[in-house]
Amino acid sequence: MRRITLTTLAAALLFAAPTTASEATVTIHADQGKYKINKEIYGQFAEHLGSCIYGGLWVGPDSPIPNTDGYRSDVVEALRRLQVPVLRWPGGCFADDYHWMDGIGPRSQRPTLRNNNWGGTIEDNSFGTHEFLNLCELLGCEPYVSGNVGSGTVKEMAQWVEYMTSDGDTPMARLRRQNGREKPWHVKYFGIGNEAWGCGGNMTPEYYSNEFRRYNTYLRDQPGNRLYRIASGASDYDYNWTRVLMRNIGRRMNALSVHYYTVRNWGNKGKATAFSPEEYLLTVEKCLDVENVVRRHCQIMDETDPEKHIALMVDEWGTWWDEEPGTIPGHLYQQNSMRDAIVAALMLNVYHKYVDRVRMANIAQMVNVLQAMILTDQEGTGHMVLTPTYHVFEMYKGFQEATHLPLDIACDSLSTVEGKRVPSVSASAARQADGSMTVSLVNVSLEESSELTVQLGAEAREVEGRILTSKQIADFNDFSHPDVVTPAPFNKTRLKKDRLTLKMPPRSIVVLQVK
Ligand code: AHR
Repeated sequence: MRRITLTTLAAALLFAAPTTASEATVTIHADQGKYKINKEIYGQFAEHLGSCIYGGLWVGPDSPIPNTDGYRSDVVEALRRLQVPVLRWPGGCFADDYHWMDGIGPRSQRPTLRNNNWGGTIEDNSFGTHEFLNLCELLGCEPYVSGNVGSGTVKEMAQWVEYMTSDGDTPMARLRRQNGREKPWHVKYFGIGNEAWGCGGNMTPEYYSNEFRRYNTYLRDQPGNRLYRIASGASDYDYNWTRVLMRNIGRRMNALSVHYYTVRNWGNKGKATAFSPEEYLLTVEKCLDVENVVRRHCQIMDETDPEKHIALMVDEWGTWWDEEPGTIPGHLYQQNSMRDAIVAALMLNVYHKYVDRVRMANIAQMVNVLQAMILTDQEGTGHMVLTPTYHVFEMYKGFQEATHLPLDIACDSLSTVEGKRVPSVSASAARQADGSMTVSLVNVSLEESSELTVQLGAEAREVEGRILTSKQIADFNDFSHPDVVTPAPFNKTRLKKDRLTLKMPPRSIVVLQVK
């Protein structure tokens, strides 16, 4: 395989025209499916950060932008098409500065606060507990509430749980009813802190473990509402954090989180839509390193929990580029290109392989922040655009709750400028309840098509597919050109009994439904 050495974006454009093709074989072990891909792997994250909540999801009932009780109608409709299974809120770092009682009661009377983590913006608390939990009901997803360990109190967190979930004649349930909500909401997922090693309190794992145990004691399950308790986990390579929590918290937690951002250099993250072929491959390499990270955390968890009672949740992941020029510093607003789509597809394919332990993942973040599904117009004209990453999530819907099928891939590898090698093809397969199969294929190469043979492991009758690709890897959608990167039907497959052949163009993602 030729080593990619060109250095400029202009050079990347040269790669737009495929010149050669490599061959690859994917062998699906159709009889070896054991584990379900939890739909929560397709989870989302919405923080009080930049315009994720305000202007993204929420415009308020008096806005000229069409809305349903304050929620942007276009955004909600697009998100419903994704079948979002779970939504994490209110942070992130914001969660450990958040005092939930500021966000209930008449909106005009709610106090303001300075969003210290994210640009010093004044937060008016108009989107609070009711607005979040009602949004989850509108989207048909499970809420995942992140509690404040860093600057909150045990009493505050315990009362929040009571407010949301108690149906009894209790003080917090009475307060909720006074604020207009008779019945409790169903709240399953509850995070006890976020990034406790950093913005969540700068704790050691030993100290945090004790804090978890103390807070956890007072979070009472209510009849019909059993909390699934998630501990604040490690940042990517911090394996000691996981080891200590497994030892000191053990089965008091239902899950432990881990955060993994596809960032190579925090001091120089790079531009979202201008990058060289070398940078692209380095990004792919960093993204695929998530597999080593997940595998290692899982191994450590296996040492004390071989039956896998405790789940690993990648409850923040995604790309993190420089903020777009001209946007508000600290608001983490970035464009989203075909490269981001490839990253999303590769990451999801990795999570599928570890679903025996990895039972949730939440991409950061849902709207207007980091690797977003949707961008809304910052000028307030009411425009919205679906990103290439949105299209991956939409194309991959068939994996939710399907049974993961192990597979082998034989393909070329590509060399990064640092001499590391990345496979040119990634794939994943799963069996649906109706017996059909969903197969995703990614051709990572910028210059070569891929002649693929897929051994299905069982005879099939028909196949339907869709493809996401673009002329250039840095292509993106904006308000004037919303469909530059958009899925198209893909019917260039040849099916012969249990063998499927197809030719994938460079930098493309294909998802097939095989019956
Ligand atoms: O997603 C942005 C931030 O990244 C979150 O607030 C924090 O948890 C992480 O460091």
